[in-house]
Amino acid sequence: MNRERLTICLVLIIWMTLQLSVGLSFPLTISGVVHHDNNRNGVMDRSEKGMAGVVVSDGVEVVTTDREGRYSIATESSRVLFVSLPGDHFANGDFYRRLMGRRSEDLVNFPLVKHKTKKTVKFVFFTDPHLTPEPKCNAIAGMQSAIKHMNRQKPAFFLSGGDLVDEADRVCEPEARRRFDLYRRLSGGFNAPLFNTIGNNDNYGIYLEGVGGDTCIVGEEDPSYGPGMYREYFGPDYYSFNYGEYHFIVFNTVSITWTVASSGDTVRTYYGNISQQQIDWAKKDMQHVSRETPIILVGHIPLMAVAPIFSGYWEGQVISYDLESPERKSFKHIVRNTPELINELLDGYNLILALAGHHHNYEADHWADGQHDAYFIVGGSICGRWWSGDRQIGGSSWPEGYLLVTLKKGGLEDFEYVSYGWKGYDE
Ligand SMILES: [Fe+2]
Repeated sequence: MNRERLTICLVLIIWMTLQLSVGLSFPLTISGVVHHDNNRNGVMDRSEKGMAGVVVSDGVEVVTTDREGRYSIATESSRVLFVSLPGDHFANGDFYRRLMGRRSEDLVNFPLVKHKTKKTVKFVFFTDPHLTPEPKCNAIAGMQSAIKHMNRQKPAFFLSGGDLVDEADRVCEPEARRRFDLYRRLSGGFNAPLFNTIGNNDNYGIYLEGVGGDTCIVGEEDPSYGPGMYREYFGPDYYSFNYGEYHFIVFNTVSITWTVASSGDTVRTYYGNISQQQIDWAKKDMQHVSRETPIILVGHIPLMAVAPIFSGYWEGQVISYDLESPERKSFKHIVRNTPELINELLDGYNLILALAGHHHNYEADHWADGQHDAYFIVGGSICGRWWSGDRQIGGSSWPEGYLLVTLKKGGLEDFEYVSYGWKGYDE
């Protein structure tokens, strides 16, 4: 090899390494098959057929499989590809694939396994476990106890509502990973499939000040920053799936922004918001959903909630979310653009339920406006007051618990907040 070629090769290697290290995104065209996996071996055997009309998406583009179950999607390497599960199938393994490190010629298949859908669908929504190895919290034993209790409900599946781990938004990388590893390990104990949601605490490296004297400033170009680490562990931070006749849309209702704090410093923080990218994606997703299909939304920060009235909207929590237009303000603990979602995205659709966490209280607000007839529920929390007993707002308190939801005949049949009997530490 002559010197010139060697130099070009070296430059190319360095360039590719740099690209990977800063997590830049490459265009890719990914194709594959969504198929029945009757023998559950994870591969498509000769006797197994592809599944037609299944929605596959990378959170931007939405495509469907052809008669043979094949799909092809123009995408980017930084995205996560997922199958919007049909109502009578679960994935064998994960319902998503990370695209980082893949090439256009790689085949990405999704083996699915049929499940029996009962007429009455029972599922568990649990939120805000805030897993932490902090000994006084005893969170690991608490979560194990919660899982044991929830498993006894024999739900069709589990839905989490975010803040899976505590303070990944301000601890250093090894500690954030330790907490995500912990959640992943403990969630192996569920006796039915689990669908996760991202919370504000699950956004790695938002805060600049760190904890306990440890300051790890995470750059926004770091692939793990924000929802990056969550995606690495649990897949897409927003997606949809079907169960029976119901269509679920899980949103990332946490946006990160720069704002001016009361000290006058410019700081990074989060606020309740559904990004334009998600709304654009959801519009495409909904094109494959009929107007009659009952829709259930999930997101960590609530779309609607009453509890902040009792806490005086927590002083200082109304923030400017746009440094260029500081007059644009929002109360950070409720989603800013709920009206857009309800009036535009869901206009003419059949929303029946919206589930959220974040406030750690339990409330169910009935929104019946002539067009929509839905419940907006904040589903308490697994950790109560961050593992130190019942959550209190004003004169009210709620124990550590979860929500048991029953669906029937295309509607919401019943819901109930269930305490799992945990006693948090005394402060
Ligand atoms: Fe929380």
